[in-house]
Amino acid sequence: MSEIAVVGAGYVGLTTAACLARLGHTVTCADLDEERVRALSKGEVPILEEGLPALVAEGLAAKRLHFVVGALAAARGAEFVFLCVQTPQSDTGAADLSAVEAVVREIAPVLRAGTVVVNKSTMPVGSTQFVARELSRSGAPADVGVASNPEFLREGTAVRDFLEPSRVVIGCDDAAVAVRVSDLYRDVQAPVLVTDPASAEMIKYASNAFLATKISFINAIANLCEAVNADVREVALGMGYDSRIGFEFLHPGPGYGGSCFPKDTAALIHTADVAGYDFSLLRGVVDVNRHQHERMIEKLRAAAGGSLQGAGVGVWGLTFKANTDDLRDSPALVVCERLLEEGATVRAYDPAAGESAGGWVAGLDVVEDPYEAVRGAGSLALLTEWDEFRWLDFARVAEAMVAPRALVDARNLLDPAAMRRRGFAYQGVGR
Ligand SMILES: NC(=O)c1ccc[n+]([C@@H]2O[C@H](COP(=O)([O-])OP(=O)(O)OC[C@H]3O[C@@H](n4cnc5c(N)ncnc54)[C@H](O)[C@@H]3O)[C@@H](O)[C@H]2O)c1
Repeated sequence: MSEIAVVGAGYVGLTTAACLARLGHTVTCADLDEERVRALSKGEVPILEEGLPALVAEGLAAKRLHFVVGALAAARGAEFVFLCVQTPQSDTGAADLSAVEAVVREIAPVLRAGTVVVNKSTMPVGSTQFVARELSRSGAPADVGVASNPEFLREGTAVRDFLEPSRVVIGCDDAAVAVRVSDLYRDVQAPVLVTDPASAEMIKYASNAFLATKISFINAIANLCEAVNADVREVALGMGYDSRIGFEFLHPGPGYGGSCFPKDTAALIHTADVAGYDFSLLRGVVDVNRHQHERMIEKLRAAAGGSLQGAGVGVWGLTFKANTDDLRDSPALVVCERLLEEGATVRAYDPAAGESAGGWVAGLDVVEDPYEAVRGAGSLALLTEWDEFRWLDFARVAEAMVAPRALVDARNLLDPAAMRRRGFAYQGVGR
């Protein structure tokens, strides 16, 4: 079993640290955020992720999991250092590697001989070499290895995805280093693909871009279904039975969002631009996505009689998908922002985001009760597919609202006929 440092205690870092401790390794997880480290050291998990609190508690109790402030304290003496810091989108669309760079410069002088630095953050092609270069420039021992080991977990099922992954990808030019990294996962039942760094880095971006493409594709089909009076849910079902297509990611909605797809598609387009390849397909995917956010506004505007000025809109769901508290790049927030821009009064409820979510969009009123969100509103926009929205008392919802009682179900979560019977002017997506 190995001594591992994990730098970054966010969605990926914390999951990586807790899961590696579960696999028997001794893990020190570092973050810059002192409050976060203090809370985690007491077993308080600051993010919503099923199974993570139990795993953190287990690691702490077994003394296989420790939390410290700052990468230096974690990296000193570690055999492996996992880089799990953020790689957000920069102004050019490229991935901003400044957080990675800062960590690498900080830890280089304290790394011991033979340590392996593992790029788990999503980093563009060339990053393994970039990290190796920065390490040697900053005084790391010459035999420190670097490997790309992209992460494919999904928020909401992160623990399961980490411990039961579809595959483990390791990109490294040094076979001995690749074997050492793959050994960390020896108790994980999954195919391990060892490849060159550039291919490993591309696998991550290509996977996310492909999933984003599937979403934009079904959203485009949904829009066409609306025009020709077909039902996209039937269409997706009929397509999904074809094993070459599959059922997953064929759910139309308000467009994809979250902390990965928007920035990773932008970064891949940037990579293509730099490489001189016109990735028009992926630009189309991004365009369709942007329009899809706007289509929700069009539906709400039409429902309000052609103008949103002064209209009251209740919103259910702010997170970018259900079962996470992550608001980063959420399409629901884009819709809220646009509604407010057009003069609507917006009151929102989300089961996980909390009232602090109001701080993400100026002028957005966030309440703690779904019925309160719709009080006096003429329209309701259901923007995140939280299961609890299916089971609310819709007679009470209708009573709290005023005419025209428009219901824009951006996730096709509710039964149109049942909603119409209750007096709602129901509209889904693509049906
Ligand atoms: N969130 C996901 O679902 C997901 C899935 C797969 C891959 N990824 C990739 O993983 C990476 C991390 O994503 P995330 O969602 O966990 O980000 P995050 O913002 O939740 O976490 C990053 C953490 O790193 C910490 N940090 C930054 N600089 C540091 C430093 N110098 N020392 C110590 N800690 C530092 C931050 O304080 C933060 O807590 C990104 O590249 C992302 O694209 C994310």
